[in-house]
Amino acid sequence: MVRTFGCQMNEHDSERIAGLLEHDGLEPVADEGLADVVVLNTCCIRENADMKLYGTLGTLKKWKDADPNRQIVVAGCLAQKDRESVRTRAPWVDVVMGTHNVHRAAELLHQSSESGGVTEILDEAIVDDYALFPSALPVRRETSYRSWVTIQIGCDNTCAYCIVPAVRGKEISRPIDDVLGEVRSLAAGGVTEIFLLGQNVNSYGRDLALASRRAGDDTVRIAPQFAALLREVGAVPGVRRVRYMSPHPKDMREDTLLAMAETAAVCEHLHYPLQAGSDRVLAAMHRGYTAERYLDRLAEARRTIPDLAVTTDIIVGFPGETEGDFQRTMEVAAAAEFDSAYLFIFSPREGTAAAAMVDDFCDPAEVGERYERLKVVLDRSAVLKHRGRIGRIEEVVVEGNSKRNPAHLTGRTRQNKLVHFSSDEQLRVGTYARVEIVDAARFHLAGRFVEVTALPVHRTRIAVTSA
Ligand code: SAH
Ligand code: SF4
Ligand code: F3S
Repeated sequence: MVRTFGCQMNEHDSERIAGLLEHDGLEPVADEGLADVVVLNTCCIRENADMKLYGTLGTLKKWKDADPNRQIVVAGCLAQKDRESVRTRAPWVDVVMGTHNVHRAAELLHQSSESGGVTEILDEAIVDDYALFPSALPVRRETSYRSWVTIQIGCDNTCAYCIVPAVRGKEISRPIDDVLGEVRSLAAGGVTEIFLLGQNVNSYGRDLALASRRAGDDTVRIAPQFAALLREVGAVPGVRRVRYMSPHPKDMREDTLLAMAETAAVCEHLHYPLQAGSDRVLAAMHRGYTAERYLDRLAEARRTIPDLAVTTDIIVGFPGETEGDFQRTMEVAAAAEFDSAYLFIFSPREGTAAAAMVDDFCDPAEVGERYERLKVVLDRSAVLKHRGRIGRIEEVVVEGNSKRNPAHLTGRTRQNKLVHFSSDEQLRVGTYARVEIVDAARFHLAGRFVEVTALPVHRTRIAVTSA
């Protein structure tokens, strides 16, 4: 079984690891009691992610002691960060592998069965090797109708708080033909929703032109741009929805907004990470924009793309954040009228610039209180946005039975909102249906089935429900 601790990128890597192991003869199981191999795909974005992993490893020691043939694999960003020390802290771990060796999962497991524990961390992705974008690798996808597609790995930004560049390496874009090839084959297999993944998608392609020029080859003379990629992905037959994450506000350009507006398949949802509302804090974070510029771009996005839902990430308690700075974040968040927001408490990550600002660390009690105050503002705008949708007819893609009420179905709108809805028909996962919105809460909408708009496409591949 594979357990994922991180972001979409991490989840997508988990799908590849699961796919590789399945290809190697292992069967997926949901319960670790039945498993012979447990893979933990880790995250290290905040300290609690570290604590979660070592907590889980503590529990897994008993599982491993019960049968020494059982194997534990630690993969992902925390493995990349902690390297050999994972096995020093938890010697019962069999394999530690980094973010650049996903393709080696099966070999490393074999190696450890033969010769004991192994740690293999590559410092950089191997360019030109399928290790980079292992689209050729088997993938065990979580859903039949939606798929993640990596367009870029790594990150060249220097946000002062962030460990991602250290654990995911430098930014490397995937050639556009390769991306389109994967999208076409997914669509042919019945996938109707494509989720493009990158840490900084607006700079997609920049490195491709540079690298080709450096190699004295001018095949890629003009950098392929994210806007063009969006249009081309949206034009692939069978693709009904395109989403992406994450754009960086400093690099958000008009051509991307136009591509979103003019490509019918691209969903009206923008994840637009604010991080802070005070210009002083934004500068200390190295974000490269001011609050005013952020809000201007946001207004332009809303003018260009009708009915756009906007979500964000905000960090509270960045070193040196004063009450005045925080007030600015409250004001900007209120002005931005977000549909929803991920709110984080600053967590120092060793090796980042912000972790060294120890003298400016905020008082945790004060930060906790700011977190609660900001949450009130964000919740209020989420509810208002949701209430504004009551009475509308929206298209959803069916995700399954509602967890809140199994007699109801759950679907997701183009704005990425969850709708729990009643229906006399049992619609299959992946069905597109129109639903009337009848009620709204903070995290979801309630609706009533109206009609089916598209049935799931006949598929040739089987999706196995995840562990
Ligand atoms: N590349 C993405 C972000 C990836 S990390 C982007 O730029 O949007 C996801 C979110 O985690 C970030 O947007 C940030 O809000 C939060 N985050 C990152 N490092 C953090 C830290 N050290 N402490 C608290 N939150 C952090
Ligand atoms: Fe981290 Fe900033 Fe890169 Fe996002 S853009 S991954 S927050 S360094
Ligand atoms: Fe993602 Fe966590 Fe790594 S957010 S990129 S899994 S550090």
